[in-house]
Amino acid sequence: MGIISYIRDEIAVVRDRDPAIKSGMEVLLYPSFKVILHYRLAHKLFLKKHYFLARWISQRAVRKTGIEIHPGAQIGKGLFIDHGSGVIIGETAILGDNVTLYQGVTLGGTGKEQGKRHPTLEDNVMVSAGAKVLGSFTVGRNSKIGAGSVVIEEVPPNCTVVGVPGRVVRMGDQKLPRAELDQIHLPDPVLNDIRELQADNRRLKRKLDELEKKINKEEVETNESI
Ligand SMILES: CC(C)(COP(=O)(O)OP(=O)(O)OC[C@H]1O[C@@H](n2cnc3c(N)ncnc32)[C@H](O)[C@@H]1OP(=O)(O)O)[C@@H](O)C(=O)NCCC(=O)NCCS
Repeated sequence: MGIISYIRDEIAVVRDRDPAIKSGMEVLLYPSFKVILHYRLAHKLFLKKHYFLARWISQRAVRKTGIEIHPGAQIGKGLFIDHGSGVIIGETAILGDNVTLYQGVTLGGTGKEQGKRHPTLEDNVMVSAGAKVLGSFTVGRNSKIGAGSVVIEEVPPNCTVVGVPGRVVRMGDQKLPRAELDQIHLPDPVLNDIRELQADNRRLKRKLDELEKKINKEEVETNESI
């Protein structure tokens, strides 16, 4: 993608998600714009195994924006990081399209996992100011994480999660009662089973995608070496 179409896309993303922007030119001043530009370049270098150069570029971006995106992270289209300071995106994080992050968000690891250690955020996920999402699980599409939450397990699609540790308070347009106060809405074992099956299904799909990518990469490398 050329720089002009990149800037045009970024203006559209910022206008869509930040009511404070007054003119298209302002997008050039946004930390989100600067850091994603650096990330795209660093990620290309990372894929070509130029690890030092990739980290050098990403660390320059940290100094300019206060946002640290590891060059190995996989990020879709339309990411917007509002304000930005203190945002960290770990090496094995995967972000779908149109994800929104606010200042102080960490997409990190727990320190207990190997390999894939950081979360996967599906399309249209929003992570509010100061929230920490820690571990290799998935946050389902369209879900929102409330400000200051600490999320340490799978979040189904279309949910709102708040608190420490994070718990689902809204699923679709239905508010879920707070378990400790509610004596009427008892847990639904069938719904719980369905949620667990959905989570297993997403995990399996992710593993399958990873395996397919690995096999494709190996095929390309074999073809190149012939
Ligand atoms: C989570 C959030 C996105 C709202 O999502 P929502 O799906 O509309 O959820 P609701 O407002 O209906 O809230 C659902 C419940 O969670 C509670 N809640 C909402 N946000 C919360 C938070 N950050 N921490 C703890 N509880 C929270 C609400 O009080 C409500 O509780 P109740 O059911 O007992 O009344 C919003 O509250 C939030 O955190 N926004 C922050 C955005 C941000 O970072 N802005 C920074 C700009 S600089």
